Amino acid sequence: MSNSAFIKSSIAKKYWMAFTGLFLCLFLVGHLIGNLQLIIKTGEEGRRAFNEYAYFMTHNPAVMVLSYLTYFSILFHAIDGIALFIQNKKARPVSYAYNKPSANSSLPSRYMALLGTIVLVFIATHMSNFWWKMKVSDEVPMHTYYSPSSQDTMYLTQKGEQISTKQIRELGEIEGTQLILKADKFSTSIEEQYSAYLASNPGLSEDQLAEIDEQKKKLKPKKDEILAEGYKDLHTVVMKFFSKKNESDSGLPLGLLGMLLYVVSMAVLGFHLWHGFASAFQSMGINHPKYTPLIKLFGRGYAVVVPSLFAIIPILIYLNS
Ligand code: HEM
Repeated sequence: MSNSAFIKSSIAKKYWMAFTGLFLCLFLVGHLIGNLQLIIKTGEEGRRAFNEYAYFMTHNPAVMVLSYLTYFSILFHAIDGIALFIQNKKARPVSYAYNKPSANSSLPSRYMALLGTIVLVFIATHMSNFWWKMKVSDEVPMHTYYSPSSQDTMYLTQKGEQISTKQIRELGEIEGTQLILKADKFSTSIEEQYSAYLASNPGLSEDQLAEIDEQKKKLKPKKDEILAEGYKDLHTVVMKFFSKKNESDSGLPLGLLGMLLYVVSMAVLGFHLWHGFASAFQSMGINHPKYTPLIKLFGRGYAVVVPSLFAIIPILIYLNS
């Protein structure tokens, strides 16, 4: 490759890395705000808020588009980064002629590829911990809680209704996250209710009996229907994951190891962002004597605050479990 072609393709790669990197920085802020609900609200209120948020994130069309953009950005950022790293390695004499890395650059800037690879491994592990369970393997249970007033386990539906296990058993069944109204069970329940009504109201006129029959026909379900859809209980999955009680069969403290993995990964992410944030603006050609120092300062603040807040979440869940 000629020098000018090399520089051109290298600049394009850097531009796209910067663009996708900054988009991922925005994603991280949104993801952090959502995840902070895991520690801000406690008890049933916290569980409900987090599960409603997770439902919104997986069902709102605009958020779903953003999700796909996030997956694409992660892959593109990583592949482009690896390609740039290989390209720079091959062109080392040229690269050295322009800048002397050890003399001119900070430690994180020289290890961007390594730090980025560790973050990528973290993201892959992280997505298999939660995202895979939520979206692919369907291992996430339904959101239920015990209600002392009805002395039964209640299912929380996405319309905000609460249906008791007894009601579900009488009228239908649970399939995945759906509460299905079974036509045969519903008919039996209606028949029983009408028989009880007739027994307690003897002496009804012919007209009244005909009217009751008419009502019964209208209520008769023809086929099974979705009565409601319940929330997935992702909150419980996350809480159990970082819990002190999460141990393997051989006694390995999985909760503690999970918490440490997240804390160390957040430190790595912090170092990656320490250089990456401001560098992205430079790669996009934004270089201003007044604003560049401010961008650098903001980037370093972001690199400390965002990963630290992410790290606090598993620490607090672990300590409070
Ligand atoms: C304490 C820290 C974190 C917790 C508790 C956490 C929790 C979660 C959970 C529960 C999900 C599944 C959401 C769903 O499928 O609806 C998720 C998805 C995801 N997380 Fe995290 N997360 C943390 C940090 C991070 C970090 C630091 C990154 C990136 C570096 C990250 C990247 C992602 C991505 C890319 C997804 C998939 C998003 C989507 O499907 O739109 N997470 N996270």
